Amino acid sequence: MSLSAEHPLVDGRTTRSPLVRALRGDRPERTPVWFMRQAGRSLPEYRELRVSTKMLDACLDPALASEITLQPVRRHGVDAAVFFSDIVVPVLLAGVGVEIVPGRGPVIDEPIRTASDVLKLRPIEPSALDPIREAVKLTVAELGETPLIGFAGAPFTLASYLVEGGPSKDQGRARALMYSDPHAWATLLNWCADVSGEFLRAQVESGASAVQLFDSWVGSLSRRDYQRRVAPHSERAFSHLRGIADADDRTVPKIHFGLGGGEFLDVMRDIGADAIGVDWRIPLDEANRRLGGTTPLQGNIDSALLGAPWSTLRSHVDEVVDRGLAAPAHVVNLGHGVPPETDPDVLTRIVRVVHGEE
Ligand code: CP3
Repeated sequence: MSLSAEHPLVDGRTTRSPLVRALRGDRPERTPVWFMRQAGRSLPEYRELRVSTKMLDACLDPALASEITLQPVRRHGVDAAVFFSDIVVPVLLAGVGVEIVPGRGPVIDEPIRTASDVLKLRPIEPSALDPIREAVKLTVAELGETPLIGFAGAPFTLASYLVEGGPSKDQGRARALMYSDPHAWATLLNWCADVSGEFLRAQVESGASAVQLFDSWVGSLSRRDYQRRVAPHSERAFSHLRGIADADDRTVPKIHFGLGGGEFLDVMRDIGADAIGVDWRIPLDEANRRLGGTTPLQGNIDSALLGAPWSTLRSHVDEVVDRGLAAPAHVVNLGHGVPPETDPDVLTRIVRVVHGEE
């Protein structure tokens, strides 16, 4: 299936953007920068809009989700918007009871613990994704030449929430299921891959110019388990975008980010990612070495330094940009999401530094 004629990667709006060029392996004049979790609690204008609306209700209100997505673009001048939603939205749209508890994260009404729990999971109805399509369309119409990044949670991270019932320290129960019932595990991860894959596809078809798969809990896995029991399912999530391309057969760039994934960056790349998001633990030149020098990188400012004196943070940002030069292409980002207590002016200043304006 090809992208529609009005898609920003087809009508040319975002094709020459620094983000899309860098993700396709190029070095644009301006190094692109955006921040994971740039839309959210660090912004007073976000907190104001969200006062009377629950997180997941906000995600399903197209006008509100679109406005929140646009806020950080207006404020910081970042090179991309990232769609305001959450990794558990497709889970909710597939009929699983889930809530996002402030200060904690997603909490599942009835955790999935057994093979028969897994068999009760139903696929997502295509029409359930309509509010997502609507929100993406509204957003892309406002963004002009700035690309929108769509995203989804990777199967392992989603399955961890479903099995644990909420956030957990080392995903012990989820990893136990992986060993004790490999068949139920594989069925569960395939279900997660399919809901996330359909969520990605809805965003891309409605106008997203790139996507990112977030695997936030993958750091609790060994390389071997990741390779054997997780990566094939992440590949399946990306496979929902197979065949979606422009008239010249160029696909939508795919970023793969795993927190603590430093031991298997190559595996994360080889399942079909065009660019790899690196957390703060490995310098970018080292990540580039591990990847054989051929993969565009994204990252990896340490968010712990966002509150440091400006001169300390500034030299860190300079170092990240400098080490990123080792890779074929680089999109500057943090090593993980923006912490809620971040001073937004600091983020704006980082954008100016990366753009060579300060
Ligand atoms: O700006 C963006 O990056 C886009 C929006 C976005 C959100 N969640 C909005 C959100 C994205 C990309 C996510 C992904 C997400 N959600 C991940 C993967 C990325 C990561 O940070 O590791 C994970 C693990 C989740 C699950 C989740 N949702 C957590 C852990 C939390 C935080 C709970 C809290 O209160 O600390 C959420 C809630 C959430 N998702 C918020 C936002 C803006 C905060 C909700 C609020 O305003 O109260």
